[in-house]
Amino acid sequence: MTSPITVRVPLADRSYDVLVGRGAASHVASLIPAGVRRAVVVTQSGNPMSARVDPGVPYTVVEIADGEDAKSLATIEFLCRRFVDAGLTRSDCVIAVGGGLVTDVAGFAASVYHRGIAVVHVATTLLGMVDAAIGGKTGVNLPEGKNLVGAFWQPSGVVCDLDALDTLPEREMRCGMGEMAKYHFLTGDDLLALDLPDRVARCVAIKADVVGSDERESGRRAILNYGHTLAHALEIATDHRMAHGEAVAVGLCYAARVAAALGRVGDARVHEHDHVVGVAYGLSTELPQGLDPELLVSLMGRDKKALNGLTFVLDGPEGVETVAGVPEDAVRLALTQMPTAPSGGRARMQP
Ligand code: GLY
Repeated sequence: MTSPITVRVPLADRSYDVLVGRGAASHVASLIPAGVRRAVVVTQSGNPMSARVDPGVPYTVVEIADGEDAKSLATIEFLCRRFVDAGLTRSDCVIAVGGGLVTDVAGFAASVYHRGIAVVHVATTLLGMVDAAIGGKTGVNLPEGKNLVGAFWQPSGVVCDLDALDTLPEREMRCGMGEMAKYHFLTGDDLLALDLPDRVARCVAIKADVVGSDERESGRRAILNYGHTLAHALEIATDHRMAHGEAVAVGLCYAARVAAALGRVGDARVHEHDHVVGVAYGLSTELPQGLDPELLVSLMGRDKKALNGLTFVLDGPEGVETVAGVPEDAVRLALTQMPTAPSGGRARMQP
């Protein structure tokens, strides 16, 4: 077995390693902090990677439910109570084995249990590997909105075991590709030219660099939300039938049109977005049919990243950056310029 690629997330005394490669899960014990005497593995039913994780200390496995409804405060209470049952103390450790939902929820539970205990993430989806498991954002939803309760809680280490991708459903792969396309526009890197381990490691390194420069999103980290303002609105407007990465893919093409409406980029850059997302990454760039544009505008205004009226992360002469005070006219115009899926067409949503 080849050694995993190691990418460091540089956060002073909270720096940590991300191990990327086939079979990387067998290295999880090397990421467990000294002094840990027991662990709880948090996962979901049927995740084959949980059987491969051996933290090297006694451990208990706890499963949480699938689906966005599991991303709730009720699940946090459930997990903390299981941590008590398992005898976890302040110096013990949680190991999250799964996609973004599992690492967000288990990470948040670890951040509040005994006022914060160690967590190691074993990401088993592409989206988790290139985004959710890296950077310490954890949290759950409220009925009023996504990710409204959470904490910045950095893991002690992250594993991206590429073996998990062999059995990942195609739709989940597409969701990861949506976030990967985002990195293309943040850096101009041709990620698709790299082999899979280098591609995932490069995405991790891009995110690690951004997080290392602005851990708590007081500035630069917001660029990681490129494409996300429309994406969050689409997820809510479709009642999560449109998955996050699918919505980000469409959101990237939309953000390019908003930037063009403001004169920040030209038509060629809009076409480049459509080409990269739609052709190179093979993702749908279309709005689903039948969505009320006014609902989308109102949801975009409510996005929690909107600090001052409509705030977007937009491309421009200086690259991708946060732009406040975007006029609603530009937001509406860009919506009219988006391709829309024909009835029964290719905009992909879960039934
Ligand atoms: N997913 C965006 C971030 O971690 O900041």
